[in-house]
Amino acid sequence: MSKLTEIVYCGIILLLECWFSSSCSDKGTPSAITVNITCDRNLYLYVDGKYLGGDVADAKQKHYLTNEIMPHSHVVAVRCTASTPPWQGGILGSFENGLVTDTSWRCTTSAEYGWNMRSYRDDDWPMATSHGANSPSTFPWGNIDSIDKKAAWIWSSDNKNDSEVFCRHKLVKECTEEKQSYFQTPKSTRDIAIQGFLLLKVRVAGVIECGLKCGQNSACVSFTIQSSDIRGSRLCELHNVTAEGHPQSVVRKEGYQYHEVVQTFY
Ligand SMILES: *[C@@H]1O[C@H](CO)[C@@H](O)[C@H](O)[C@H]1NC(C)=O
Ligand SMILES: *[C@@H]1O[C@H](CO)[C@@H](O)[C@H](O)[C@H]1NC(C)=O
Ligand SMILES: *[C@@H]1O[C@H](CO)[C@@H](O)[C@H](O)[C@H]1NC(C)=O
Repeated sequence: MSKLTEIVYCGIILLLECWFSSSCSDKGTPSAITVNITCDRNLYLYVDGKYLGGDVADAKQKHYLTNEIMPHSHVVAVRCTASTPPWQGGILGSFENGLVTDTSWRCTTSAEYGWNMRSYRDDDWPMATSHGANSPSTFPWGNIDSIDKKAAWIWSSDNKNDSEVFCRHKLVKECTEEKQSYFQTPKSTRDIAIQGFLLLKVRVAGVIECGLKCGQNSACVSFTIQSSDIRGSRLCELHNVTAEGHPQSVVRKEGYQYHEVVQTFY
């Protein structure tokens, strides 16, 4: 099915849900993938709460583990405990589907029961800190050839004092995380526009195109579009604030309709 047909099927309300659906999955990894991973120094690897393997992964000796992750997997979780001082903590890994250890992971120094399970919410965990690239000049581990060059040595922010960390990352982008849709706000949104905070002003064929332009602009949280009674192309304005967030910027503008991004978690 072409992207355009998909969008038409979806209708206006769940506009971006469809747009994004091609880049995400709720079914987890589509096939089995391998991972090469190491840490300084004792590694425990979990996928969706199940222990997959671990060892004394002596990163300084360029030692790493290879494991296979089953299809339909969702979340990878790694625990690493450091060796005796003086030491520095670091975890480095790459997955066959392109995932690598980097600052998009989350790492914490204490974890509660269930920390490695898929359903666990790690939103309040700090983002991982990179303590060096996978390169020969990174002290004290250097690089590991079998691990992707894009991977970074990650740990909590303090890899000289935190001797145990727990890190997590999704194996695939989950749709439930990024289902964002355009809804008209509950109150009347006709004849309303935002003054200022303009990211882009373009002519479009309709509300879907305007919404897609907003979806492609990471700063866009709302848009206004000229009403459909205008023939031909319509003016579409993308904004980086919402009406509620900036009530002082809301103005009456006849023939315009206001829309905003609604973030929904399921
Ligand atoms: C793991 O290491 C092997 C051996 O070097 C390599 O062939 C493979 O591509 C690596 N896989 C990943 C996911 O980095
Ligand atoms: C962290 O470790 C260093 C030495 O490795 C020490 O001097 C420092 O006081 C420690 N910091 C904290 C907050 O424990
Ligand atoms: C919104 O975009 C304007 C440029 O149009 C910029 O000056 C402003 O800092 C942005 N504000 C926010 C809240 O992102």
